[in-house]
Amino acid sequence: MANQLAVNDHNYSVDVDDDTPLLWVIRDIVGLTGTKFGCGAAQCGACTVHIDGVAHRSCVTPVSAVGDGKVTTIEHLASTPLGQALQKAWLDEEVVQCGYCQSGQLMQAAALLTVQPAPSDADIDQAMSGNICRCGTYGRIRTAINVASRARAGGA
Ligand code: FES
Ligand code: FES
Repeated sequence: MANQLAVNDHNYSVDVDDDTPLLWVIRDIVGLTGTKFGCGAAQCGACTVHIDGVAHRSCVTPVSAVGDGKVTTIEHLASTPLGQALQKAWLDEEVVQCGYCQSGQLMQAAALLTVQPAPSDADIDQAMSGNICRCGTYGRIRTAINVASRARAGGA
């Protein structure tokens, strides 16, 4: 059945079963491959996207559940001031190792700073706890989120 889907400010009509995971639609039909498949079971966060600004695990989100929600993926993040601040902090702090988890990490971080512009380390650890990094970049992710937060506040 055709589902209407808004991704990164573009509208798509996707002819898939209603229970098709949003992740597959984003990657295989829309063709945006920055969002990654990790576990397929809401356990790792690699597939994190925003729906109306809120972080969701796209691997367990049926495409029909998105409705009129606006989906944002990693490909769109750098076109926002928040995304640019995060991208700069990620680069300055050399966060990335293999990179596989990082689009999900950045989307989760952006969702955090949207609702909590100046999080504590504990806030960051809690918000990011569902995003797994096999390379163990957690410390640098926490630092980069703090750097981006201060930059957004004008203090860096
Ligand atoms: S692939 Fe979705 S949470 Fe792991
Ligand atoms: S950077 Fe390799 S899994 Fe996170």
